[in-house]
Amino acid sequence: MKRAFLEKLLGRIPRISPGEVQVYLENLAREKGFLETIFNAILEGVIVTDIQGKVLYLNRSACAFFGIQEDASLGTSVGEIMHGLDLEAVSGATATISGDLEVCYPQHRFLNFYVVPLMSEAGIEKEMQLEGQGIILRDITETRRMTQATIESERSSALTLLAAGIAHEIGNPLNSLDIHLQLMKRCMKKLPKSLRMELEKSVGVARHEVARLDQITTQFLRAIRPQPLKLDVENLNCLVQESVAFLQVEISNRDILVELELGSTLLKLRVDRNQLKQAFYNVIRNAFQAMKTGGILRIKTGVDASCAFVIFSDTGPGIPAENMSHIFAPYFTTRESGSGLGLMVVKRILQAHGGEVGIESIEGKGVSVILRLPCTVQRTRLLNSGCPRSGLKRETT
Ligand SMILES: Nc1ncnc2c1ncn2[C@@H]1O[C@H](COP(=O)(O)OP(=O)(O)OP(=O)(O)O)[C@@H](O)[C@H]1O
Ligand SMILES: [Mg+2]
Repeated sequence: MKRAFLEKLLGRIPRISPGEVQVYLENLAREKGFLETIFNAILEGVIVTDIQGKVLYLNRSACAFFGIQEDASLGTSVGEIMHGLDLEAVSGATATISGDLEVCYPQHRFLNFYVVPLMSEAGIEKEMQLEGQGIILRDITETRRMTQATIESERSSALTLLAAGIAHEIGNPLNSLDIHLQLMKRCMKKLPKSLRMELEKSVGVARHEVARLDQITTQFLRAIRPQPLKLDVENLNCLVQESVAFLQVEISNRDILVELELGSTLLKLRVDRNQLKQAFYNVIRNAFQAMKTGGILRIKTGVDASCAFVIFSDTGPGIPAENMSHIFAPYFTTRESGSGLGLMVVKRILQAHGGEVGIESIEGKGVSVILRLPCTVQRTRLLNSGCPRSGLKRETT
């Protein structure tokens, strides 16, 4: 309702009948109630302040964003609600101000707000005069989180690419270093024995270190370089059995029992057999290495609504809670001779197949690694739609 209209109305009040006043007031109350319903229904927070920044109105969303009650907040300074807001700049502003706000209580959120000056005509000159401010708040938590996740993923792929480039470039000088060390070793044969023995020892150490560096870079490149999948229809149970058979020597050298619980359904999937077996080896080896004093490794295969799964459960010491968030990171290892790339390769292979890796660990009891692969061969699935036995809907005539 415009100020001018209200002024006119007030001027006429002595001349209008009590009945008419009642009708005007009822209309005003109805209009206020209608506007309040709309403001309370919208997701954006709305706060209206007077020219000093004292809160005159705030809707339900604004109360929810800041965890405050409407009644207790009316008349307080908006700076007490939106901590950090430059109240002086905001309350005197005749242009729109915008910014972002982090709220920690009652829920961690990010809000975008803009402050709109509320102007109205005043006096005979009908000059525009500042009445107060309207503050509109929008929840941008989800957008901000997604942006943050995108930035982090881009940063990590840029770093991986850079590291891959460096690792690749290191390969050539390493090769040349090794060739020169071999030449040096050959030339040393002409030297007196005592000197030759000493130099050969140093060259041996240098060659060993060069070989180690070469192995690190080769392993790193193999781990991060996506290899194209050679897909074929394979039986998942056979791949598990082949992987266990391949590691038989390692198994018999340890006090470890491998139990297979293979799903009875023929699990045929379109997969790259070599890459998938590589993933199985890495997981099985981790289990062996964890069960230093022996134990049981149970390997279970099966299929659920949308995926085929292989679960590897060991009876080792488990993974401490503080390590759980690092185990897929490159070079994270707790083993002296570990490269820390095994699980990263598992994840890459499973993701390339459209699958995923899950790890559950109970400290002192063991680890379960769950590999899930989509059943691409089984392309359709009957949904349960009311007729539980057949999955078919009964037609009613
Ligand atoms: N079954 C398991 N039980 C206990 N800890 C495990 C298990 N599997 C993985 N881990 C932990 O996760 C870490 C990372 O495993 P990952 O396979 O990536 O590297 P790694 O085994 O240390 O080295 P490598 O690259 O040679 O495989 C391990 O060092 C170990 O601490
Ligand atoms: Mg490993």
